[in-house]
Amino acid sequence: MTEITDPVVLMKQEVGKAAANRVQSNSIVGLGTGSTTAFALQYIGERLQKGELTNVVGVPTSFQAEVLARQYGIPLTTLDVIDHIDIAIDGADEVDPQKNLIKGGGAAHTREKIVDALADFFLVVVDSGKLVEKLGSTFLLPVEVIPMAVHPVMRALTKLGGTPELRMGIRKAGPVVTDQGNLVIDVKFEAIANPAELEKTINNLPGVLENGLFVGVTDLVLVGEIIDGKPSVREF
Ligand code: A5P
Repeated sequence: MTEITDPVVLMKQEVGKAAANRVQSNSIVGLGTGSTTAFALQYIGERLQKGELTNVVGVPTSFQAEVLARQYGIPLTTLDVIDHIDIAIDGADEVDPQKNLIKGGGAAHTREKIVDALADFFLVVVDSGKLVEKLGSTFLLPVEVIPMAVHPVMRALTKLGGTPELRMGIRKAGPVVTDQGNLVIDVKFEAIANPAELEKTINNLPGVLENGLFVGVTDLVLVGEIIDGKPSVREF
């Protein structure tokens, strides 16, 4: 395996490992999406393989999580056949001091919110670059929209004070299409004053499926840092 030297990737790896170490045998685990959670999935798989963990099943939050879980040997289940989730592990694009989040950089926030909000314990894993004083300061707010409603929703988001843009694909002509077959509008808000209110207001616009504000759902944040040149993890 090639050695990781990029400090941000090292932080993600360390925090992913720390999250995987919190998973217990005989549990149902929400499997988040993104490059940080990918490390958690890798280490959960390794612990299962070593026999350190037994009887763990995962609920994937995206096509990506499903593919990685299969690759790392994590058995999967669905919300149709379980009545609870013990712990969900997921990344974030921004985290504020109240542990509210912006998610959806990978366009998976709709399924992530379903799974993360159902979990008895929601563990967020981020590198230190994701911590902000106010949500919206560094990242655009993703909003998943049914395709026919894109233009009315963009106009409504502008009226709410945002600057919306349709997310376009990279190495794919045209817009990003979500796992549900919808589109994503990314909205610039100059620091979000009241995340709880904005989350509800946007979700109330006809045609919006879900937005990336996760308010009041996080139990614990694990933050990956580099201290004295070495990756470490702190709780917050
Ligand atoms: C997926 O839609 C997102 O919510 C991710 O969880 C978030 O973008 C964090 O991703 P990284 O861990 O890749 O930064």
